[in-house]
Amino acid sequence: MTSTADDIIVLEHVDKRFGANYAVQDLSFTVKRGQIVALLGRTGAGKSTALHMIMGVMPPTSGRVVVDALDPYRDFKKLRGRLAVSFQTDRLLPWRSALDNVALGLQILGIGATQRRQRAEEWLANVKITGAENLRKYPHELSGGMRQRTSLARALAVDPHLLLLDESFSQLDHVTSQALRTDVAELVRRLAKTCVLITHRIDDALEMADRVLVLTAPARVAYDLTVTAADRADPEWIARQSSAIAAAMGDHADETSAAAG
Ligand SMILES: Nc1ncnc2c1ncn2[C@@H]1O[C@H](COP(=O)(O)OP(=O)(O)O)[C@@H](O)[C@H]1O
Ligand SMILES: [Mg+2]
Repeated sequence: MTSTADDIIVLEHVDKRFGANYAVQDLSFTVKRGQIVALLGRTGAGKSTALHMIMGVMPPTSGRVVVDALDPYRDFKKLRGRLAVSFQTDRLLPWRSALDNVALGLQILGIGATQRRQRAEEWLANVKITGAENLRKYPHELSGGMRQRTSLARALAVDPHLLLLDESFSQLDHVTSQALRTDVAELVRRLAKTCVLITHRIDDALEMADRVLVLTAPARVAYDLTVTAADRADPEWIARQSSAIAAAMGDHADETSAAAG
């Protein structure tokens, strides 16, 4: 496989073994800068393991992983600040307000208090959290959707090249999740960030991504689909591709959306 400077993520023949079991086997794909790419698969497909290797928290057993021209495992520290992650649970600090949670990443980067506050406010506004009383709220005072929004603002505030979302919408109810997906996709496109989205839900993937990679255990690409804005707006196309994706996942569509992350 040939990769270019346009590729922010490159996986080449990547294996990850835990004991005798392959979580990921011979996985190869590239992600271009500015794209939103969904890694879609059932529970156990190896999505999180692939993500962990991209984040550099674990090395591959064999094969090559390149992120922003670095080896994410070896160059873990250099990659910090270029890469941000938001998870299924928001992982906000309960003793810090929404504003202070977002400001935290900026504090770690050594940005002064006044600027920190101002930038945190801007990022919360970007995810549609405004008003002094909301900024002052603690996580337990925020709805699930607002907590996820705060978590995304915190991830984006450090101005990463790459945003990784691991089942970030999975624990929200349908309406909240759909509103957040739409807003996040719009924001990521406006900022021209690269985003890798991990999900087991077909609707998450088709609504947000420019490209959907269906992974089947042990994390191999079973289906590779490009999605244009026109496709996304076409219910017939969505219905047809949903069935094709469900088949590639080796599952019925209804079971797939009900399965846990
Ligand atoms: N740290 C680990 N140790 C042993 N097995 C693991 C570990 N992490 C994941 N696995 C196994 O690898 C497979 C893929 O898991 P995972 O990457 O979490 O899948 P997904 O995120 O798609 O649900 C599963 O069979 C899981 O049990
Ligand atoms: Mg997972």
